[in-house]
Amino acid sequence: MPRKPRVLLTEPVFEEVISLLQNHTDLVIGKRGEFNNAQSLASAVKNIDGLLCMLSNPVTADVINEAKNLNVIANYAVGYNNIDISATHSQGIKVANTPGVLTETTAEGTFALLLAVSRRLNEAENALRAGRFDGWHPTGFLGTELSGKSLGIVGMGRIGTAFARLARAFGMQILYHNRNRINTNTERELQARFVVNLDELVSQSDVLSLHCPLTSETHHLINEKMLRIMKPGSILLNASRGPVVDEAALAAVLHQGGIRGAGLDVYENEPQIHPDLLTAPGAVLLPHITSATYETRLKMGMLAAGAVLHVLCNLDMPCYFVED
Ligand code: DGY
Repeated sequence: MPRKPRVLLTEPVFEEVISLLQNHTDLVIGKRGEFNNAQSLASAVKNIDGLLCMLSNPVTADVINEAKNLNVIANYAVGYNNIDISATHSQGIKVANTPGVLTETTAEGTFALLLAVSRRLNEAENALRAGRFDGWHPTGFLGTELSGKSLGIVGMGRIGTAFARLARAFGMQILYHNRNRINTNTERELQARFVVNLDELVSQSDVLSLHCPLTSETHHLINEKMLRIMKPGSILLNASRGPVVDEAALAAVLHQGGIRGAGLDVYENEPQIHPDLLTAPGAVLLPHITSATYETRLKMGMLAAGAVLHVLCNLDMPCYFVED
């Protein structure tokens, strides 16, 4: 009997995903966090045919070099900045990710962040829990209205577009900056204005929301200079990848009251959070959960497992490959 392909799943996930993989492969499951550094991953990939990894696992060129039998890497995420794509090319390894299934959930999660920042929800609830609710007050915990405000979106892909749709329902005006202009029908539906110049978008937005992938071009795209040209009273949202924002500069601007607040789901050095962000006024800080609904995270797992089985076992499963 031919041997089953060897697959490393870097940490435990849903039972459904595990049983699907176990039915067709010789599956090894790591412990949570075990492969969050390249060294431990490099020593575990030597004899494996497939890797199903998390966005916290650095699949570097050194890791890929060690993996002489590897045919497929499936990332349990839509973003794949943790994988050295050029190193996979030289070894002919297919790389899969999970687009589509997290679009609405992530847009909703980002909107939850926006409402939490604009209406100071966490701050107000914390005050109540601390026994500081002394009844209705005309000027207690004043937030800012969204209706009629401008929303600048950086990265108008699936998630950026879904977020814009939600914002339209709240009466916001959409501006966007993207590599390319989106299709005319969507632009018309959202009454969205394409802004070629990023400085212009940043300086005109009441809310600036980041939905671009992390690449060498987008690393620290929102740096001190950009933060300083944001409107006074504006809000920054980041549900893309932490390093798109210079976290130290953001913390400084928040402490100085340069902008109203920031809603962050992602951080430069996850799971570490810059200490000045933890104390920054107006910051709502979530632990990378904007895509965290049961439905979505299960679908992400099934897509990633599908890609592994498609490549290694020739099964006809729904899956997506990067650059297909
Ligand atoms: C992704 O899929 O890239 C998200 O960050 C997961 O929440």
